[in-house]
Amino acid sequence: MSDDIRTRVDAYIEDRLLPEDADLSAVLDANHVAGLPAIDVSPAFGKLLSLLARTSGARRVLEIGTLGGYSTAWFARALPVDGMVVSIELNPRHAEVARANLARLGCAERVEIRCGSALDILECMIAEDGPRFDLVFIDADKVNNARYLERALRLVHVGSLIVVDNVVRAGAVADASAEDPNVLGTRALFDAVAAHPQLEATAIQTVGRKGYDGFLIARVRA
Ligand code: SAH
Ligand code: DHB
Ligand code: MG
Repeated sequence: MSDDIRTRVDAYIEDRLLPEDADLSAVLDANHVAGLPAIDVSPAFGKLLSLLARTSGARRVLEIGTLGGYSTAWFARALPVDGMVVSIELNPRHAEVARANLARLGCAERVEIRCGSALDILECMIAEDGPRFDLVFIDADKVNNARYLERALRLVHVGSLIVVDNVVRAGAVADASAEDPNVLGTRALFDAVAAHPQLEATAIQTVGRKGYDGFLIARVRA
């Protein structure tokens, strides 16, 4: 697997375009030591998330699915000093590892990790009616993807971006007879995006060391 052409190209891209970043690598090392699953975004995708945050001028980012805070760290570092990432994580151990990682990076004051079921926390946030988010990254369980989108839409504004990870899953998304709840959740997400009059969206297939997958990106229009 390690000489796989896709892995070699990922390594090449990282070598040329992603300068060695010991702080971000340390997050992945700490996650590994803590026994977290290695399902963080790839470095190249983390960089894309940070470029999206910067080019869109995002100040407030909502993330659903923190794990050890690797994607959270890419966002936190992309934001202006008064920016904020709110990241939701079900597993208290993951949340603890993430908090420690982000504190070590000096990002703690720019990140709030809310521990609990994302659906519950999103409902709380909707009730709290706080400042809206400029960018939402959905990357938790795939079963609830359409429900996360529906909640996220009540927390954003015209012009906000919504990015959803893992929407291709080795092509399974295109299987109309799929029974896997993860695939059904993702197909429900596509249906919800397609039916929403205020979303303009696309999805891009990706390959790399993490295999064949993809992401969806949507913009909220007037
Ligand atoms: N965004 C992270 C990876 C997230 S992995 C990164 O790229 O670094 C998915 C995470 O979603 C896991 O940590 C898992 O515990 C969490 N998760 C799963 N179901 C959830 C739920 N119902 N509510 C909140 N988080 C959930
Ligand atoms: C899984 C989840 C992810 O968010 C990801 O990027 C890769 C794999 C998983 O649950 O297997
Ligand atoms: Mg993911």
